[in-house]
Amino acid sequence: MRADLSTCIGNIYLPSPLYNASGVWCTDYTQLDIVLNNIATGAVVTKSCTLKPREGNPNPRYFDKINKLDALSASINSMGLPNKGIDYYLEVAAHIENPKHKPFFLSVCGLSVEENLQILQNVVSYEHSNRYINGIELNLSCPNIIGKPQLGYDFPALTETLRKIFEINALDKYTVGIKLPPYFEEVHWGQATDVIEPYAKSSHINFLTCCNSIGNGLVIDYENESTVIKPKYGHGGIGGDYIKPIALANVRQFYNTLGNKLDIIGCGGVKSGRDAFEHILAGASAVQVGTSIQLHGPDQFKLIFMELEDIMTKKGYVSLNSFKGKLKYL
Ligand code: DHB
Repeated sequence: MRADLSTCIGNIYLPSPLYNASGVWCTDYTQLDIVLNNIATGAVVTKSCTLKPREGNPNPRYFDKINKLDALSASINSMGLPNKGIDYYLEVAAHIENPKHKPFFLSVCGLSVEENLQILQNVVSYEHSNRYINGIELNLSCPNIIGKPQLGYDFPALTETLRKIFEINALDKYTVGIKLPPYFEEVHWGQATDVIEPYAKSSHINFLTCCNSIGNGLVIDYENESTVIKPKYGHGGIGGDYIKPIALANVRQFYNTLGNKLDIIGCGGVKSGRDAFEHILAGASAVQVGTSIQLHGPDQFKLIFMELEDIMTKKGYVSLNSFKGKLKYL
């Protein structure tokens, strides 16, 4: 029997657990269409959007194939939120060809609480938008805006932001989640859980995406004795192989504390079926792929899907639920 790789985020059905991480292959209609209609994806999420279109930070602002001679591959970015603005993504969602009816997630990343509220107002007042926007990923963890710290690390500000956002009653019509930064400390997992839990209990927050890139890393071009990206003196968000153990820890921690109230989406270091398997074993209901798609293109989804299917068949798992969150402890 073939393994069943379908899954759910909240009450949204996905035919496959794989889709893009926000920021990768999702800035314009063509890219979103390619991901959404890829045979191996279960959904698509847009580039994190602001109220108005943005050019983003100066180039070069993305670099990958770090340490060509190393076994590890990774990326660094300081894009600075180049995006086409919320109204563009609302139009794309309304008009994109979606014959398989896969879920369309909107990623939202206003530069202030007020901007987030305005973006969400635009979403809920756009005619029938809940028909073609199935989920909203509130990005509270962008590390690349000069002068703006990541909201997910400021617990009082996070509390206040969530309080204001969930005063918008019409958000109930959407499956809403938040994209968190990576946490590294027991106390921070505890504090984040305390802030999120009331909204998980009341079903306002339906999923957590764990996690965004490791903010403000530095990659050095050894030959040229230089930084590899221009913004922020070379600092940027780190993705790829380097982040996988950190992402897995975040998936597992939030699955343990909140996994009975919401879904966890794993994001970080997935380039193979085995990586996706490990994220699901740690508690992920779905898995986003970033650096690997940026490096190799969307064909990589099929490879990861087939490897995951193969692993499940070999291990005798018939569905994702038969091993999700079942990581053993020594
Ligand atoms: C950008 C980077 C992020 O990690 C994110 O969550 C949002 C935006 C960027 O630089 O564009």
